[in-house]
Amino acid sequence: MSAGRAISIEEDILARNDAVAAKIAELEGGVGAMLTSSGQAANFYAVFNICQAGDHFVTSNTIYGGTYNLFGVTMKKLGIECTFVDPEWDDKRIEAAFRPNTKCFFGETISNPGGHVFDIERFARMAHKHGVPLIVDNTFATPINCRPFEWGADIVTHSTTKYMDGHATSVGGAIVDSGNFDWNAHADKFPGLCQPDESYHGLTYADAFGKDPEFARFYRSLEAYRRSFSQKSDVMVVDPSADFFSYLKKEGGEQNNGS
Ligand SMILES: Cc1ncc(COP(=O)(O)O)c(C=O)c1O
Repeated sequence: MSAGRAISIEEDILARNDAVAAKIAELEGGVGAMLTSSGQAANFYAVFNICQAGDHFVTSNTIYGGTYNLFGVTMKKLGIECTFVDPEWDDKRIEAAFRPNTKCFFGETISNPGGHVFDIERFARMAHKHGVPLIVDNTFATPINCRPFEWGADIVTHSTTKYMDGHATSVGGAIVDSGNFDWNAHADKFPGLCQPDESYHGLTYADAFGKDPEFARFYRSLEAYRRSFSQKSDVMVVDPSADFFSYLKKEGGEQNNGS
């Protein structure tokens, strides 16, 4: 750690956010997490990360009104269509909503405001049968009461605005990845993860990172980066040979360092 440099405020904030994300991932039993500016942003990114114009997804109709509006109105304007299903329907009726271009199934552990309990195990089985991940908004339950990954969910979202921050005074959100969904087993459905990304030096995320989607493994790189910090009197220093830099150098070239 001899060749160090003082870190910027941005890097300091990144390290702090990374610590919060790591704690939420740990609470949920996931492999990584990404913080967002709100719960609404978390739900948007969780779906938008795997859906593009022309795609479709299935969602429980017992979800928070803002999310209902986001999915049914705003995402429709982006060319992403969803079908609302009543979780009380029988399997046959719900499964009829899945199409060849369906990319995920979404529900809330305990719905806001109805308080309906989502049968995660049942809906995970259904999602997986159709080759898509189950995304569960765990805002109301929190990982203290329910850990959706233990029941088969693949991705968890949170509005940390509510119970997670302990005082509901700050708007925030999080997306947590279980690392369990095998994207490459359904490569045709998820080109954003399973085909080279032209905007990122032709990197194929699912190949480079195995079963974890990009933000989860990227998070791990950041974690390595964070661990490379050391306290030297009151100045933090970073080792430029740390894993994070090595990885980006290997995959993306020098210009990505630290970005
Ligand atoms: C279950 C659930 N998810 C997401 C949201 C949106 O969260 P935020 O207000 O942080 O954007 C809410 C807000 O009430 C919610 O109840």
